[in-house]
Amino acid sequence: MLNDLKHLLHDFQPISLSDQRFDQSHEYFEGQSNQQAQVLQWLQHFGGNQIQRWSEKGLGARGPFRVLSVGCGSGILDLPLIERLAEQIESSGSNSSMHYTGIDPNPVACERFREEYVRLNTNSSELLVLEETVETHQWVEKMDLTHVVHSLYYFADPAVSLRALIKNVAVDGELVIFQAPKAELNLLADCFWQGHGEDPIWFSAELERHLQDTGTMFTKSRVDAEVDVTDCFDLGCLQGRLTFDFIIQSDSESLPAPIFRKVLDYLKAISRRHEGRVLAPHPVDVFVVRQSDDSTTQPDARLACSP
Ligand SMILES: C[S@@+](CC[C@H](N)C(=O)[O-])C[C@H]1O[C@@H](n2cnc3c(N)ncnc32)[C@H](O)[C@@H]1O
Repeated sequence: MLNDLKHLLHDFQPISLSDQRFDQSHEYFEGQSNQQAQVLQWLQHFGGNQIQRWSEKGLGARGPFRVLSVGCGSGILDLPLIERLAEQIESSGSNSSMHYTGIDPNPVACERFREEYVRLNTNSSELLVLEETVETHQWVEKMDLTHVVHSLYYFADPAVSLRALIKNVAVDGELVIFQAPKAELNLLADCFWQGHGEDPIWFSAELERHLQDTGTMFTKSRVDAEVDVTDCFDLGCLQGRLTFDFIIQSDSESLPAPIFRKVLDYLKAISRRHEGRVLAPHPVDVFVVRQSDDSTTQPDARLACSP
């Protein structure tokens, strides 16, 4: 089925999503999935464990707890995370605080993140949102927790950026990467995706191979989730178009009807029906790289389990 689609796409140049459309469609898409709640739970678990270890060691005086969110977007995942981690810091009795840095090249999303953060009203956290890419980021301090949630696909050179990210994790800190497998939905996205020229996009398998090849110790586990794609089948529905656009990572505005139909046929084929809804698989793999004090990256077997 995808071969037919690829054939049709051969003569058609998909239009990239504008910054505004990416931000809008991303938020709507995530709202239709139960994946982000699970990602948040995982991140809260990693951050919470760190804060606990750190307050048990009486390290409150060593400075703030530092978190880096790479490709933070509008902070739809970060805002609840900041809230929960700030609460944990406040109840740890360490009298400390959190410095949370988000980096993202999308100015629309960065501005939304800053605006929404003001409404949080936390006493123990400070937020810095930098409108930049991982490639241009200036590393001024090491991070206790760095997370890369669904953004590594877009990096210009993932291998180079990963080296910098790992190098800038503090001792006892963690780099946590959520990266989707190239299956179902992403096989579809891959047909449309541009910007990497002939280079393949790094999905979960490419990331895993790279970590193995570079001798990096890591743990990997799978989070299963589903996204409700029912609205995509209603062509007049604005929300359906948002989900559709995010899935194909392109603007569907000028998409020829035969391509539209092939995408919908494919979506139908990979989905299950439940209580009148159409649900597509939306799994993600979690990779954890821990920085231990002998400067080698060691896995923590406990992290292979669900939080
Ligand atoms: C799918 S969104 C994920 C947003 C957020 N992490 C989340 O899970 O809600 C991917 C984000 O990566 C950002 N991005 C793209 N290229 C990037 C780069 N080179 N460095 C950092 N972020 C990048 C995009 O602007 C986008 O906001």
